[in-house]
Amino acid sequence: MSEATTATPPQEYPPVPELHWSDELQTGDARMDDTHTEFVTLLAELRALPQSEQLEPYRALVRHTEEHFGQEDRWMLATGFTADNCHAGQHKSVLDTMRAVQTHYLQGDTDIISRMADALAEWFPVHARSMDAGLALHLQSLGYDTRTETLPDPSRVRPATMSGCGSVSCS
Ligand SMILES: [Fe+2]
Ligand SMILES: [Fe+2]
Repeated sequence: MSEATTATPPQEYPPVPELHWSDELQTGDARMDDTHTEFVTLLAELRALPQSEQLEPYRALVRHTEEHFGQEDRWMLATGFTADNCHAGQHKSVLDTMRAVQTHYLQGDTDIISRMADALAEWFPVHARSMDAGLALHLQSLGYDTRTETLPDPSRVRPATMSGCGSVSCS
């Protein structure tokens, strides 16, 4: 009697829902929220396109994300975080992945931008409500102005002393 083979059917995942800007995504910092609104809009526009038209809008999203993460990293450095704090570490790993996706797309994996865009639509709300909202609270507690990037009382900041994410977990 031959052994029965039990093939596992491929796992079906439900489609990632569309992501639109909403009050639930607000962090409490107006400049951060403006940047996030732009990110959500660029991502929604990208996800609405056929795969053959995604490369340039995706490159624009990568450039925007470099600026977006760069400004938050700058604010963290100015208010006492170490350069390798866990929030900045998450920014780096997301950006590294986004850049690698661009390379894979050009090498023929034309589905990969769609998969990355879905992953970003799942990742962003969690990041905004945890690490970014925690950063906004931290900045407000010091009176840091994200428009002018100035601190009213720099003596309240001990540079490079914070490696965590403030009130939220790094995991
Ligand atoms: Fe952000
Ligand atoms: Fe962030």
